[in-house]
Amino acid sequence: MHALRNDLSSYWMPFTHNRGFKADPRLLASARDMHYFTSDGRAILDGTAGLWCVNAGHAQPRIVEAIQRQAAILDYAPPFQLGHPLAFELADRLGQIMPRGMDRIFFTGSGSEAVDTALKIALAYQRAVGQGSRTRLIGRERGYHGVGFGGISVGGMVANRRQFGAMLPGVDHLRHTHDSARPFTRGQADQGAELADDLERLVALHGVETIAAVIVEPVAGSTGVLVPPEGYLERLREIATRHGILLIFDEVITGFGRLGAATAAEYFGVTPDLITMAKGLTNGSVPMGAVAAARHVHDAIVDGAAPGIELFHGYTYSGHPLAAAAGIATLETYAEQDLFARAAALAPAWEAAMHGLRAARHVIDVRNLGLVAGIELASRDGAPGARAMAVFHRCFDQGLLVRVTGDTIALSPPLVISEAQIGEIADGIARALGGTD
Ligand SMILES: Cc1ncc(COP(=O)(O)O)c(C=O)c1O
Repeated sequence: MHALRNDLSSYWMPFTHNRGFKADPRLLASARDMHYFTSDGRAILDGTAGLWCVNAGHAQPRIVEAIQRQAAILDYAPPFQLGHPLAFELADRLGQIMPRGMDRIFFTGSGSEAVDTALKIALAYQRAVGQGSRTRLIGRERGYHGVGFGGISVGGMVANRRQFGAMLPGVDHLRHTHDSARPFTRGQADQGAELADDLERLVALHGVETIAAVIVEPVAGSTGVLVPPEGYLERLREIATRHGILLIFDEVITGFGRLGAATAAEYFGVTPDLITMAKGLTNGSVPMGAVAAARHVHDAIVDGAAPGIELFHGYTYSGHPLAAAAGIATLETYAEQDLFARAAALAPAWEAAMHGLRAARHVIDVRNLGLVAGIELASRDGAPGARAMAVFHRCFDQGLLVRVTGDTIALSPPLVISEAQIGEIADGIARALGGTD
Protein backbone atom coordinates (compact mmCIF):
# COMPACT_ATOMS: atom_id res chain seq x y z
CA MET A 1 0.00 0.00 0.00
CA HIS A 2 2.87 2.31 0.82
CA ALA A 3 4.40 1.73 -2.63
CA LEU A 4 1.05 2.44 -4.29
CA ARG A 5 0.71 5.69 -2.40
CA ASN A 6 4.17 6.72 -3.59
CA ASP A 7 3.20 5.84 -7.14
CA LEU A 8 0.20 8.11 -7.05
CA SER A 9 1.93 11.06 -5.45
CA SER A 10 3.79 12.43 -8.49
CA TYR A 11 0.70 13.13 -10.56
CA TRP A 12 -0.82 16.47 -9.50
CA MET A 13 -4.36 15.82 -10.68
CA PRO A 14 -6.50 18.54 -12.31
CA PHE A 15 -9.75 19.74 -10.69
CA THR A 16 -9.38 16.96 -8.14
CA HIS A 17 -9.28 16.64 -4.38
CA ASN A 18 -5.80 15.11 -4.68
CA ARG A 19 -5.47 14.01 -1.07
CA GLY A 20 -8.89 12.39 -1.01
CA PHE A 21 -8.36 10.63 -4.34
CA LYS A 22 -4.98 9.25 -3.42
CA ALA A 23 -6.33 7.89 -0.15
CA ASP A 24 -9.13 6.11 -2.05
CA PRO A 25 -8.28 5.96 -5.77
CA ARG A 26 -10.67 5.19 -8.61
CA LEU A 27 -8.67 4.00 -11.62
CA LEU A 28 -10.14 3.34 -15.05
CA ALA A 29 -8.28 0.74 -17.08
CA SER A 30 -10.22 0.38 -20.34
CA ALA A 31 -13.44 1.31 -22.09
CA ARG A 32 -15.78 0.00 -24.77
CA ASP A 33 -19.10 1.32 -26.08
CA MET A 34 -21.15 2.49 -23.07
CA HIS A 35 -18.82 1.23 -20.35
CA TYR A 36 -15.59 1.88 -18.54
CA PHE A 37 -13.81 -0.99 -16.82
CA THR A 38 -11.87 -0.41 -13.61
CA SER A 39 -8.46 -1.87 -12.94
CA ASP A 40 -10.16 -4.42 -10.67
CA GLY A 41 -12.44 -5.48 -13.53
CA ARG A 42 -15.73 -3.77 -12.66
CA ALA A 43 -17.94 -2.39 -15.47
CA ILE A 44 -19.02 1.24 -15.01
CA LEU A 45 -21.91 2.53 -17.14
CA ASP A 46 -20.79 5.86 -18.60
CA GLY A 47 -23.46 8.46 -17.84
CA THR A 48 -21.21 11.37 -18.83
CA ALA A 49 -19.54 10.41 -22.14
CA GLY A 50 -16.28 10.60 -20.23
CA LEU A 51 -16.32 14.35 -19.70
CA TRP A 52 -19.00 15.37 -22.23
CA CYS A 53 -16.81 14.14 -25.08
CA VAL A 54 -17.19 10.47 -26.07
CA ASN A 55 -20.42 11.06 -27.98
CA ALA A 56 -20.06 8.01 -30.23
CA GLY A 57 -19.27 5.65 -27.34
CA HIS A 58 -15.88 4.23 -26.45
CA ALA A 59 -13.40 2.52 -28.76
CA GLN A 60 -15.30 3.03 -32.00
CA PRO A 61 -13.33 0.85 -34.46
CA ARG A 62 -13.17 3.45 -37.24
CA ILE A 63 -11.64 6.02 -34.89
CA VAL A 64 -9.22 3.55 -33.30
CA GLU A 65 -7.99 2.40 -36.72
CA ALA A 66 -7.63 5.94 -38.06
CA ILE A 67 -5.41 6.96 -35.14
CA GLN A 68 -3.31 3.81 -35.37
CA ARG A 69 -2.86 4.17 -39.12
CA GLN A 70 -2.01 7.86 -38.96
CA ALA A 71 0.59 7.40 -36.21
CA ALA A 72 2.64 5.29 -38.60
CA ILE A 73 2.18 7.59 -41.62
CA LEU A 74 2.77 11.09 -40.25
CA ASP A 75 3.18 11.48 -36.51
CA TYR A 76 3.58 15.23 -36.42
CA ALA A 77 3.79 18.14 -38.83
CA PRO A 78 4.56 21.76 -37.93
CA PRO A 79 1.44 23.85 -38.50
CA PHE A 80 3.14 27.23 -39.07
CA GLN A 81 3.87 27.96 -42.76
CA LEU A 82 3.42 24.22 -43.45
CA GLY A 83 0.42 21.97 -43.72
CA HIS A 84 -0.65 18.37 -44.09
CA PRO A 85 -3.68 17.11 -46.02
CA LEU A 86 -5.76 15.79 -43.12
CA ALA A 87 -6.00 19.17 -41.35
CA PHE A 88 -7.44 20.70 -44.54
CA GLU A 89 -9.78 17.76 -45.03
CA LEU A 90 -11.09 17.94 -41.47
CA ALA A 91 -11.59 21.72 -41.72
CA ASP A 92 -13.55 21.22 -44.93
CA ARG A 93 -15.74 18.50 -43.46
CA LEU A 94 -16.30 20.43 -40.26
CA GLY A 95 -17.28 23.51 -42.25
CA GLN A 96 -19.98 21.41 -43.92
CA ILE A 97 -21.77 20.66 -40.63
CA MET A 98 -21.44 24.15 -39.17
CA PRO A 99 -24.20 26.73 -39.71
CA ARG A 100 -24.10 28.13 -43.22
CA GLY A 101 -21.14 30.41 -43.89
CA MET A 102 -19.28 29.41 -40.71
CA ASP A 103 -16.73 27.36 -42.55
CA ARG A 104 -13.41 28.96 -41.73
CA ILE A 105 -11.82 26.70 -39.14
CA PHE A 106 -8.94 27.46 -36.78
CA PHE A 107 -7.60 24.42 -34.90
CA THR A 108 -6.45 24.40 -31.28
CA GLY A 109 -5.45 21.74 -28.79
CA SER A 110 -8.39 22.04 -26.36
CA GLY A 111 -11.60 23.83 -25.52
CA SER A 112 -9.80 26.38 -23.36
CA GLU A 113 -7.50 27.21 -26.25
CA ALA A 114 -10.49 27.44 -28.58
CA VAL A 115 -12.08 29.99 -26.25
CA ASP A 116 -8.95 32.11 -25.99
CA THR A 117 -8.60 31.87 -29.78
CA ALA A 118 -12.18 33.02 -30.36
CA LEU A 119 -11.75 35.96 -27.99
CA LYS A 120 -8.57 36.99 -29.82
CA ILE A 121 -10.23 36.61 -33.21
CA ALA A 122 -13.04 38.86 -32.00
CA LEU A 123 -10.56 41.53 -30.89
CA ALA A 124 -8.57 41.23 -34.12
CA TYR A 125 -11.79 41.48 -36.14
CA GLN A 126 -12.83 44.72 -34.47
CA ARG A 127 -9.41 46.21 -35.20
CA ALA A 128 -9.57 45.01 -38.79
CA VAL A 129 -12.90 46.76 -39.35
CA GLY A 130 -11.66 50.00 -37.84
CA GLN A 131 -13.25 49.50 -34.42
CA GLY A 132 -10.07 49.18 -32.39
CA SER A 133 -11.63 50.82 -29.32
CA ARG A 134 -13.80 47.72 -28.91
CA THR A 135 -11.66 45.73 -26.50
CA ARG A 136 -14.24 44.79 -23.89
CA LEU A 137 -15.41 41.17 -23.68
CA ILE A 138 -18.74 40.20 -22.16
CA GLY A 139 -19.39 36.82 -20.55
CA ARG A 140 -22.17 35.56 -18.33
CA GLU A 141 -22.54 34.60 -14.69
CA ARG A 142 -22.30 30.84 -14.18
CA GLY A 143 -20.53 30.48 -17.53
CA TYR A 144 -17.66 28.05 -17.99
CA HIS A 145 -15.23 28.68 -20.80
CA GLY A 146 -12.24 26.63 -19.78
CA VAL A 147 -9.28 27.68 -17.75
CA GLY A 148 -7.17 30.05 -19.86
CA PHE A 149 -7.01 33.60 -18.54
CA GLY A 150 -9.43 34.68 -21.25
CA GLY A 151 -11.81 31.88 -20.39
CA ILE A 152 -11.81 32.44 -16.63
CA SER A 153 -12.20 36.20 -17.16
CA VAL A 154 -15.38 35.85 -19.21
CA GLY A 155 -16.42 32.80 -17.21
CA GLY A 156 -18.57 33.07 -14.16
CA MET A 157 -17.43 30.36 -11.76
CA VAL A 158 -16.01 32.04 -8.70
CA ALA A 159 -13.97 29.05 -7.56
CA ASN A 160 -12.10 29.07 -10.88
CA ARG A 161 -11.21 32.74 -10.49
CA ARG A 162 -10.49 33.48 -6.88
CA GLN A 163 -7.00 31.94 -6.68
CA PHE A 164 -5.71 33.84 -9.69
CA GLY A 165 -5.91 37.57 -9.19
CA ALA A 166 -7.16 40.30 -11.47
CA MET A 167 -8.25 38.62 -14.76
CA LEU A 168 -8.48 40.44 -18.11
CA PRO A 169 -9.35 44.11 -17.76
CA GLY A 170 -12.72 45.48 -18.80
CA VAL A 171 -14.70 42.26 -18.81
CA ASP A 172 -18.33 42.37 -17.71
CA HIS A 173 -21.04 39.75 -17.36
CA LEU A 174 -24.67 39.20 -18.24
CA ARG A 175 -26.83 37.63 -15.55
CA HIS A 176 -27.27 33.88 -15.80
CA THR A 177 -30.57 32.55 -17.10
CA HIS A 178 -31.50 30.09 -14.38
CA ASP A 179 -34.82 30.71 -12.63
CA SER A 180 -34.86 28.70 -9.42
CA ALA A 181 -38.48 29.73 -8.82
CA ARG A 182 -39.53 27.39 -11.65
CA PRO A 183 -38.08 23.99 -10.84
CA PHE A 184 -38.76 20.89 -12.92
CA THR A 185 -39.13 22.78 -16.19
CA ARG A 186 -38.96 20.36 -19.09
CA GLY A 187 -36.66 21.68 -21.81
CA GLN A 188 -36.71 25.43 -22.29
CA ALA A 189 -38.65 27.74 -19.97
CA ASP A 190 -41.24 29.91 -21.68
CA GLN A 191 -40.21 32.97 -19.65
CA GLY A 192 -36.93 34.82 -19.29
CA ALA A 193 -35.99 35.88 -22.82
CA GLU A 194 -35.73 39.46 -21.53
CA LEU A 195 -32.57 38.50 -19.60
CA ALA A 196 -30.80 38.99 -22.93
CA ASP A 197 -31.54 42.71 -22.53
CA ASP A 198 -28.65 42.74 -20.06
CA LEU A 199 -26.50 43.23 -23.14
CA GLU A 200 -28.37 46.47 -23.88
CA ARG A 201 -27.76 47.52 -20.29
CA LEU A 202 -24.01 46.92 -20.64
CA VAL A 203 -23.95 48.81 -23.94
CA ALA A 204 -25.60 51.74 -22.17
CA LEU A 205 -23.21 51.48 -19.23
CA HIS A 206 -19.90 51.07 -21.05
CA GLY A 207 -20.57 52.59 -24.47
CA VAL A 208 -21.03 50.48 -27.56
CA GLU A 209 -17.65 51.59 -28.90
CA THR A 210 -15.93 49.60 -26.11
CA ILE A 211 -17.55 46.19 -26.61
CA ALA A 212 -15.98 43.63 -28.94
CA ALA A 213 -17.85 40.41 -28.28
CA VAL A 214 -20.22 38.49 -26.05
CA ILE A 215 -19.64 34.82 -25.30
CA VAL A 216 -22.18 32.34 -23.92
CA GLU A 217 -22.66 28.62 -23.73
CA PRO A 218 -25.97 27.97 -25.54
CA VAL A 219 -26.71 25.53 -22.70
CA ALA A 220 -24.44 26.08 -19.69
CA GLY A 221 -23.02 22.71 -18.66
CA SER A 222 -20.39 22.95 -16.01
CA THR A 223 -22.44 25.06 -13.61
CA GLY A 224 -25.21 22.53 -13.48
CA VAL A 225 -27.05 22.39 -16.82
CA LEU A 226 -28.77 25.75 -17.31
CA VAL A 227 -31.11 25.73 -20.29
CA PRO A 228 -31.75 29.06 -22.05
CA PRO A 229 -35.33 30.34 -21.94
CA GLU A 230 -37.23 30.33 -25.21
CA GLY A 231 -36.29 33.33 -27.32
CA TYR A 232 -33.24 34.27 -25.22
CA LEU A 233 -30.53 33.35 -27.71
CA GLU A 234 -32.52 34.89 -30.55
CA ARG A 235 -32.74 38.15 -28.61
CA LEU A 236 -29.04 38.11 -27.75
CA ARG A 237 -28.27 37.64 -31.45
CA GLU A 238 -30.51 40.53 -32.40
CA ILE A 239 -28.99 42.93 -29.84
CA ALA A 240 -25.41 41.92 -30.70
CA THR A 241 -26.03 42.44 -34.41
CA ARG A 242 -27.65 45.81 -33.85
CA HIS A 243 -24.58 47.03 -31.95
CA GLY A 244 -21.80 45.48 -34.05
CA ILE A 245 -20.88 43.10 -31.21
CA LEU A 246 -19.70 39.65 -32.23
CA LEU A 247 -21.65 36.73 -30.75
CA ILE A 248 -19.60 33.70 -29.72
CA PHE A 249 -21.27 30.40 -28.89
CA ASP A 250 -19.07 28.16 -26.77
CA GLU A 251 -20.19 24.78 -28.08
CA VAL A 252 -17.50 22.71 -26.41
CA ILE A 253 -20.20 20.52 -24.87
CA THR A 254 -23.26 21.32 -26.98
CA GLY A 255 -21.59 20.47 -30.30
CA PHE A 256 -21.63 17.12 -32.09
CA GLY A 257 -25.11 15.87 -31.40
CA ARG A 258 -25.50 16.57 -27.71
CA LEU A 259 -28.81 18.38 -28.35
CA GLY A 260 -29.78 16.27 -31.36
CA ALA A 261 -28.16 18.44 -34.04
CA ALA A 262 -24.59 19.08 -35.19
CA THR A 263 -24.50 22.31 -33.19
CA ALA A 264 -26.68 24.12 -30.68
CA ALA A 265 -26.71 26.94 -33.22
CA GLU A 266 -28.54 24.63 -35.61
CA TYR A 267 -30.78 23.27 -32.85
CA PHE A 268 -31.89 26.73 -31.72
CA GLY A 269 -31.83 28.24 -35.21
CA VAL A 270 -29.51 31.04 -34.07
CA THR A 271 -26.27 31.65 -35.96
CA PRO A 272 -23.41 33.26 -34.03
CA ASP A 273 -20.25 34.77 -35.55
CA LEU A 274 -17.85 32.35 -33.90
CA ILE A 275 -18.30 28.83 -32.52
CA THR A 276 -15.82 27.15 -30.20
CA MET A 277 -15.68 23.37 -30.02
CA ALA A 278 -13.53 20.49 -28.72
CA LYS A 279 -14.41 17.22 -26.92
CA GLY A 280 -16.82 15.51 -29.36
CA LEU A 281 -14.74 16.78 -32.27
CA THR A 282 -12.51 13.71 -31.92
CA ASN A 283 -14.89 11.73 -29.70
CA GLY A 284 -12.45 12.59 -26.90
CA SER A 285 -9.85 10.28 -28.42
CA VAL A 286 -7.09 12.79 -29.21
CA PRO A 287 -7.00 16.30 -27.73
CA MET A 288 -8.28 18.87 -30.21
CA GLY A 289 -10.31 22.05 -30.24
CA ALA A 290 -11.43 24.37 -33.00
CA VAL A 291 -13.03 27.71 -33.73
CA ALA A 292 -15.46 28.02 -36.61
CA ALA A 293 -15.57 31.58 -37.91
CA ALA A 294 -18.17 33.18 -40.13
CA ARG A 295 -16.69 34.20 -43.43
CA HIS A 296 -17.16 37.90 -42.78
CA VAL A 297 -15.04 37.58 -39.63
CA HIS A 298 -12.34 35.55 -41.33
CA ASP A 299 -12.28 37.67 -44.45
CA ALA A 300 -12.05 40.96 -42.56
CA ILE A 301 -8.93 39.73 -40.77
CA VAL A 302 -7.31 37.68 -43.53
CA ASP A 303 -8.23 39.43 -46.78
CA GLY A 304 -7.84 42.86 -45.24
CA ALA A 305 -4.31 42.29 -43.95
CA ALA A 306 -1.03 43.38 -45.47
CA PRO A 307 0.92 40.51 -47.08
CA GLY A 308 2.38 38.24 -44.40
CA ILE A 309 0.96 36.49 -41.36
CA GLU A 310 -2.58 37.76 -40.82
CA LEU A 311 -3.21 36.50 -37.27
CA PHE A 312 -0.33 36.21 -34.84
CA HIS A 313 -1.75 33.24 -33.01
CA GLY A 314 -1.52 29.45 -33.17
CA TYR A 315 -0.41 26.35 -31.31
CA THR A 316 2.25 23.70 -31.83
CA TYR A 317 -0.57 21.17 -31.89
CA SER A 318 -3.02 23.11 -34.12
CA GLY A 319 -4.37 20.56 -36.62
CA HIS A 320 -2.20 17.75 -35.22
CA PRO A 321 -2.17 14.80 -37.67
CA LEU A 322 -3.43 12.24 -35.14
CA ALA A 323 -6.19 14.56 -33.99
CA ALA A 324 -7.12 15.38 -37.60
CA ALA A 325 -7.31 11.67 -38.46
CA ALA A 326 -9.40 11.05 -35.35
CA GLY A 327 -11.63 14.01 -36.18
CA ILE A 328 -12.35 12.81 -39.71
CA ALA A 329 -13.09 9.28 -38.49
CA THR A 330 -15.30 10.73 -35.76
CA LEU A 331 -17.38 12.80 -38.18
CA GLU A 332 -17.70 9.73 -40.41
CA THR A 333 -18.85 7.67 -37.43
CA TYR A 334 -21.47 10.26 -36.44
CA ALA A 335 -22.76 10.35 -40.02
CA GLU A 336 -22.65 6.62 -40.65
CA GLN A 337 -24.59 5.82 -37.47
CA ASP A 338 -26.78 8.92 -37.77
CA LEU A 339 -26.00 9.68 -34.15
CA PHE A 340 -27.26 13.27 -34.04
CA ALA A 341 -30.69 12.09 -35.16
CA ARG A 342 -30.46 9.24 -32.68
CA ALA A 343 -29.90 11.72 -29.86
CA ALA A 344 -32.92 13.72 -31.01
CA ALA A 345 -35.03 10.56 -31.12
CA LEU A 346 -33.95 9.49 -27.62
CA ALA A 347 -34.49 12.93 -26.07
CA PRO A 348 -38.15 12.37 -25.05
CA ALA A 349 -37.33 9.06 -23.30
CA TRP A 350 -34.37 10.75 -21.63
CA GLU A 351 -36.55 13.64 -20.46
CA ALA A 352 -39.17 11.27 -19.06
CA ALA A 353 -36.59 9.16 -17.21
CA MET A 354 -34.81 12.17 -15.73
CA HIS A 355 -38.01 13.88 -14.61
CA GLY A 356 -39.03 10.55 -13.12
CA LEU A 357 -36.40 11.36 -10.46
CA ARG A 358 -38.42 14.34 -9.32
CA ALA A 359 -39.73 12.53 -6.25
CA ALA A 360 -36.40 10.95 -5.32
CA ARG A 361 -34.82 11.89 -2.02
CA HIS A 362 -33.09 15.33 -1.87
CA VAL A 363 -34.05 16.32 -5.45
CA ILE A 364 -35.12 19.98 -5.75
CA ASP A 365 -34.92 20.43 -9.53
CA VAL A 366 -34.50 18.50 -12.76
CA ARG A 367 -33.42 20.26 -15.97
CA ASN A 368 -32.93 18.72 -19.40
CA LEU A 369 -32.43 19.31 -23.09
CA GLY A 370 -31.34 16.88 -25.80
CA LEU A 371 -29.28 14.21 -24.06
CA VAL A 372 -28.25 16.44 -21.17
CA ALA A 373 -29.75 16.57 -17.71
CA GLY A 374 -29.03 18.27 -14.43
CA ILE A 375 -30.49 16.89 -11.22
CA GLU A 376 -30.12 19.41 -8.45
CA LEU A 377 -30.07 18.31 -4.83
CA ALA A 378 -30.75 20.25 -1.66
CA SER A 379 -27.38 21.09 -0.14
CA ARG A 380 -26.37 19.82 3.26
CA ASP A 381 -26.30 22.57 5.87
CA GLY A 382 -22.97 24.37 5.70
CA ALA A 383 -21.50 21.89 3.23
CA PRO A 384 -22.42 22.79 -0.35
CA GLY A 385 -21.46 20.10 -2.82
CA ALA A 386 -20.97 17.39 -0.19
CA ARG A 387 -24.24 15.59 -0.83
CA ALA A 388 -23.74 15.39 -4.61
CA MET A 389 -20.18 14.21 -4.07
CA ALA A 390 -21.49 11.44 -1.81
CA VAL A 391 -23.91 10.43 -4.59
CA PHE A 392 -21.04 10.41 -7.11
CA HIS A 393 -19.10 7.97 -4.90
CA ARG A 394 -22.13 5.80 -4.28
CA CYS A 395 -22.95 5.64 -7.99
CA PHE A 396 -19.38 4.78 -8.88
CA ASP A 397 -19.30 2.01 -6.30
CA GLN A 398 -22.48 0.54 -7.78
CA GLY A 399 -21.19 0.77 -11.39
CA LEU A 400 -22.43 4.11 -12.73
CA LEU A 401 -20.39 7.17 -13.71
CA VAL A 402 -22.12 10.50 -13.10
CA ARG A 403 -20.61 13.97 -12.88
CA VAL A 404 -21.30 16.43 -10.12
CA THR A 405 -20.91 20.16 -10.03
CA GLY A 406 -21.88 21.88 -6.82
CA ASP A 407 -24.96 19.94 -5.71
CA THR A 408 -26.10 19.16 -9.23
CA ILE A 409 -25.64 15.76 -10.85
CA ALA A 410 -24.88 16.48 -14.51
CA LEU A 411 -25.54 13.76 -17.07
CA SER A 412 -24.55 13.57 -20.74
CA PRO A 413 -24.34 9.95 -21.90
CA PRO A 414 -22.84 8.81 -25.19
CA LEU A 415 -25.43 9.15 -27.97
CA VAL A 416 -25.27 5.38 -28.55
CA ILE A 417 -27.06 4.78 -25.25
CA SER A 418 -30.05 2.41 -25.35
CA GLU A 419 -33.42 3.10 -23.74
CA ALA A 420 -32.70 0.29 -21.28
CA GLN A 421 -29.46 1.98 -20.28
CA ILE A 422 -31.30 5.28 -19.80
CA GLY A 423 -33.46 3.38 -17.32
CA GLU A 424 -30.35 1.96 -15.67
CA ILE A 425 -28.96 5.46 -15.14
CA ALA A 426 -32.20 6.71 -13.60
CA ASP A 427 -32.52 3.64 -11.37
CA GLY A 428 -28.89 3.87 -10.29
CA ILE A 429 -29.27 7.51 -9.30
CA ALA A 430 -32.52 6.85 -7.44
CA ARG A 431 -30.83 4.04 -5.54
CA ALA A 432 -27.80 6.18 -4.70
CA LEU A 433 -30.02 9.06 -3.55
CA GLY A 434 -32.06 6.72 -1.39
CA GLY A 435 -28.94 5.66 0.48
CA THR A 436 -27.43 9.14 0.88
CA ASP A 437 -27.99 11.37 3.93
C1 LIG B 1 -18.33 25.18 -22.45
C2 LIG B 1 -16.89 24.80 -22.24
N1 LIG B 1 -15.94 25.57 -22.74
C3 LIG B 1 -14.63 25.26 -22.61
C4 LIG B 1 -14.25 24.13 -21.94
C5 LIG B 1 -12.80 23.83 -21.78
O1 LIG B 1 -12.38 22.76 -22.54
P1 LIG B 1 -10.99 22.04 -22.21
O2 LIG B 1 -11.14 21.39 -20.88
O3 LIG B 1 -10.80 21.10 -23.37
O4 LIG B 1 -9.93 23.09 -22.20
C6 LIG B 1 -15.22 23.28 -21.42
C7 LIG B 1 -14.83 22.05 -20.70
O5 LIG B 1 -15.63 21.39 -20.09
C8 LIG B 1 -16.58 23.63 -21.55
O6 LIG B 1 -17.56 22.86 -21.02
